[in-house]
Amino acid sequence: MIDVTVDGEVVQVPEGATLLDACRTKGVDTPTLCYLETLTPVNACRVCVVELEGSRTLVPSCSRAAQPGDVVQTDSPRVRHSRKLVLELLASSVDLSLASGDVRRWVDRYEVDTARFGPAAAPAAADERDGRDSGHHHASDGATAETVAQPIKIHDEMYVRDYSKCILCYKCVEACGDDAQNTFAIAVAGRGFDARISTEFDRKLDQSACVYCGNCIGVCPTGALVFKSEHDLREAGTWDEAKQTMTRTVCPYCGVGCNLELHVQDNEIVKVTSPMDHSVTHGHLCIKGRFGWQFVQNRGSE
Ligand code: SF4
Ligand code: SF4
Ligand code: FES
Repeated sequence: MIDVTVDGEVVQVPEGATLLDACRTKGVDTPTLCYLETLTPVNACRVCVVELEGSRTLVPSCSRAAQPGDVVQTDSPRVRHSRKLVLELLASSVDLSLASGDVRRWVDRYEVDTARFGPAAAPAAADERDGRDSGHHHASDGATAETVAQPIKIHDEMYVRDYSKCILCYKCVEACGDDAQNTFAIAVAGRGFDARISTEFDRKLDQSACVYCGNCIGVCPTGALVFKSEHDLREAGTWDEAKQTMTRTVCPYCGVGCNLELHVQDNEIVKVTSPMDHSVTHGHLCIKGRFGWQFVQNRGSE
C-alpha cells in the first residue's frame, strides 16, 4: 500500500492504483466521462483533472498512477475552473439531455453556464458532418455556438445512433475494439471539431463490420447509442424508468453463462444490459443475449 494525500487527508491505496482510486477511497465525488472500470483509460474528456503538487499542469486522475507521497487537490479554484470549462464546452456543443444524473449534478456543482458561447448554431444536414474533410473545418460565425447537432441515424431495428448526443468519449470505440469485442467496426474519423464516431467509410451499420453485440450501447454515457425499442418509446412519450423493473437472469442461448439484466416496462422487455461486476461478461454481451429476446414476448393469439 502507498500513502497519498487527498485534500489534506492521507489515504492508502494499493501500488498501481490511480489518483482517481485515491480520490474515491477518500469518498471524493470525482467527475468522469470517458473513464469506465472495464475499459482502458483514453484521457479524452479531462473532466477528472486534479491538481498534483509538483506538476506544472493539471493531471487526469483516471489514468495517472498514484506515487508514494503524492499530494493532490480535488477542489481548488484551478480544478473547479477547468472542470467547469470542459463541461461548458461540451454542454454548448452536445445535447446532454439523456446524460446520467451524475452529469447534471456536476453541471450544477461547477455552475456550468450552458449558454456561455451563445445560442446553438443550426444543426448539420443528415450525413453532412460525416463527409467533412480533415483540416477544412469552417470558421464559426462568432454569434452562435458550434454544435454537433445532426439528424439521428436509424438503420435497423436493433439500435439507433444519435450523434447530436456524442461527447467523443471513445468508450464505444474501446468496447468495439480490444477492450471487449475485438470487432473494430467503429473508430474516430476526422479531426478537431469535425471528429466523429464512424464505421469504415461511413457505411451503414448493416453493411459495416458491426456484429450487433451492442457493447457500445452498454458503455455510452450520454444516450447517443440506445436500443431502438427505447428510442421508439421515448418518441412516443411512453418511456418511463419509474415504471421499469430490472430482473437479473442467465442468458438462455449458450453455455457461457452470461448474466442478463432484463429491463421491463408494462410487461414488455424494453432493453437488456449486463452487470459490470460479473466475472464472465464485465457488462458485455453478444447479439443473442443483447437483442434476441423477442421470443419471450411471442404470445401468439393472446
Ligand atoms: S454493436 Fe458491437 S460490433 Fe457493432 S459497433 Fe457496437 S460494439 Fe462494435
Ligand atoms: S457514441 Fe457514446 S460512447 Fe461513443 S464516443 Fe459518443 S458518447 Fe462516447
Ligand atoms: S475521465 Fe479522466 S480523462 Fe475522462
